Amino acid sequence: MNAPIGVFDSGVGGLTVMKEIMRQLPGENLVYFGDTARVPYGSKSKNTVCRYSRQIVRFLETRQVKAIVIACNTASALALDEIRDETSIPIIGVVEPGAVMAANTTKTNNIGIIGTDSTIKSGIYNKCLHKINPEITVVSKACPLFVPLVEEGLWEDRVTEDIAGRYLHELKEYDIDALVLGCTHYPLLRRIIGREMGENVKLVNPAYETAKSLKALLTEKNLLNTIGIDGREPTYDYYVSDGVDKFISFADDVLSCQVGKAEIVNIESY
Ligand code: DGL
Repeated sequence: MNAPIGVFDSGVGGLTVMKEIMRQLPGENLVYFGDTARVPYGSKSKNTVCRYSRQIVRFLETRQVKAIVIACNTASALALDEIRDETSIPIIGVVEPGAVMAANTTKTNNIGIIGTDSTIKSGIYNKCLHKINPEITVVSKACPLFVPLVEEGLWEDRVTEDIAGRYLHELKEYDIDALVLGCTHYPLLRRIIGREMGENVKLVNPAYETAKSLKALLTEKNLLNTIGIDGREPTYDYYVSDGVDKFISFADDVLSCQVGKAEIVNIESY
């Protein structure tokens, strides 16, 4: 089925998931929505994040998407359950796949989680990990300044190193061997985070497992795009709620390609 897959985030972080979907599902057409006017979600209430996510799902429905990926940990943590009941389109988030990947990565059963304030407060990673394996110990830390640092393009900057040192310092006191990058912006800081944590801690990027789960879902529902595989280029469409130029240059960097254009959507009208 050649209908596109909708992927959304509060801003540009979800592009790290989009990139992995492009890699694992090269035949699929994709529609990306970044809520650049209302980022960050990570400091907002459940009600607000649910309202924003609902509007984005309504917008994606108008693009006739066949499946939706919430490429945002915060929205996955706070809104996935509500939204799933409100749409007939199959929808997945990044948290469950991230938890599966972390549980498969750890050898010591001591896992660290970093994410936005709302994701960490929700305790969702703890719940998912304990469901997979009650023996797992979780230590978590909110890193709210990482999102604006990423959005400002300071991926390899001394300011970011300094902030990472402050945030991650206390995690190093625990004997963790896996650290979940529980915010889709954070993979863009993986070099700094990796240096800070040291080589004995594996960084878990939920994007890989999310794309894998998406493929399994599409296969199960008989929705894979078999038409796109024989030689036709897939289409990638980008929509944002503000700041088109900044988004385009950012997306070019993250996806290592020329995204060409992005369109503004008045998301409040959905
Ligand atoms: N990228 C989003 C996430 O994965 C959060 C960024 C924000 O605070 O909006 O949680």
